[in-house]
Amino acid sequence: MNKTRIVQILRHGQPDEAVLIQGWVRTTRALKGFAFVELNDGSALANLQVVINEDFPDYEALVKRLTIGSSVAVEGVLVASQGKGQRIEVNPSKIQVFGESDPETYPLQKKRHSFEFLRGLGHLRSRTNTLGAVFRVRNACSSAIHQFFQERGFLWVHTPLITASDCEGAGELFSVTTLDPKNPPKTPQGEIDYSQDFFGKPAYLTVSGQLEAEIMAMAFSDVYTFGPTFRAENSNTSRHLAEFWMVEPEMAFCDLQGNMDLAEAFLKHIFKTVLEQCPEDMEFFNQRIDQTVLATADNIINNQFERISYTEAIAFLEKADRKFEYPVEWGLDLQSEHERYLAEELFKKPVIVRDYPKGIKAFYMRLNDDNQTVAAMDVLAPKIGEIIGGSQREERLDILEQRIQDNQMPLEELWWYRDLRRYGTVPHAGFGLGFERVVQFMTGMGNIRDVIPFPRTPMNAEF
Ligand code: 4AD
Ligand code: MG
Repeated sequence: MNKTRIVQILRHGQPDEAVLIQGWVRTTRALKGFAFVELNDGSALANLQVVINEDFPDYEALVKRLTIGSSVAVEGVLVASQGKGQRIEVNPSKIQVFGESDPETYPLQKKRHSFEFLRGLGHLRSRTNTLGAVFRVRNACSSAIHQFFQERGFLWVHTPLITASDCEGAGELFSVTTLDPKNPPKTPQGEIDYSQDFFGKPAYLTVSGQLEAEIMAMAFSDVYTFGPTFRAENSNTSRHLAEFWMVEPEMAFCDLQGNMDLAEAFLKHIFKTVLEQCPEDMEFFNQRIDQTVLATADNIINNQFERISYTEAIAFLEKADRKFEYPVEWGLDLQSEHERYLAEELFKKPVIVRDYPKGIKAFYMRLNDDNQTVAAMDVLAPKIGEIIGGSQREERLDILEQRIQDNQMPLEELWWYRDLRRYGTVPHAGFGLGFERVVQFMTGMGNIRDVIPFPRTPMNAEF
């Protein structure tokens, strides 16, 4: 007999249907004449109830073994539930315990545990209601992302994780080396001798797949990446990870306007799809984590995002009736408190800020006619701040080379990037969505470490 996932039974199961379920016990209550066992297999937030009659073979010994966390297979038939709280339940004919779980030492109990406590139990926390809901939403969100791009004819391209270039030029790189970090070989000039390294030159974990995505867009028109990226930065906040996943579409024959339109349609699509696919989980977040989650989703799906220039954003911040910790001044980068003020307090919806000063943005962004700003765009979300960063790219070779030099980037090493402007250059644009930030935004989870199964931060690198 094939197993049935609990979510299917809860949604569609009918009385008299024969089922085989495999899962873990969440609770067992023995009352007079019956024991009620709640089973979960990760497919749904709700548990499936199995009601064992005291006539069941070896009833007492069996019920003693069905402790919290133990793994079981149950064969039986579905029956309409007499009790409140569930539509359908299982009348078992055979119960097999695979692995017992000692309730005295099992760290997860029926009560609510703090997220901090659960972070110390990275190997068990996915079995809790909240983390279970988060990872189902994360999965639905991933598949919605692929669906969105695949339906529009984008090619999913795999860009390297080990790379020689620093795309963002921010120096937040992790080195990948076979040299002994404590005692690297030196050249006669006293510099590290990378000729003895595996690649023969410095290599890093990628901070973004964008530059390689641009290569692919110049052949396939519309492409996207979806993979891990790594940054050695500021990782002790509730919105930063050292290892996070990024989604990076890149489009040939596209300008900043087209880029903003795609980003907005994209966010609308993933919110809508997740609401359709995970209604119980989203309802749970709204009840238990953040009571604005459903209203926010509705707002994203049904209202247009606000679009303002950086210069307008600075004017709004200067007029704000409150003091900020960091200075507000044309030419300075927006801090997360500024971003949150714009999205959360002023407009109460996502805000797309475009045309930032060239001095605070990466070398590849297209210089505007004013010579002061670049065709950049950031999407700012209430509560989170920046969830998307993108731009139209500089497609003019002479200006690009000047910008590379102005940013002290290695002109020679970027020969292939410059070649793209030499052979069939076109206006093109793209953006990067911080995947964990969008899952955080969607679920209302306060800390980014609780929306990725194995968070990598300076404080937490157990696995
Ligand atoms: O704004 P960023 O740095 O943009 C880029 O990397 C571009 N190359 C993207 C592109 O145009 N193809 O990063 C993009 C997004 C940010 O908006 C943020 O949501 C997320 O990545 N992000 C992080 N998420 C978690 N932890 C971190 N340390 C992050 N750094 C950036
Ligand atoms: Mg950014």
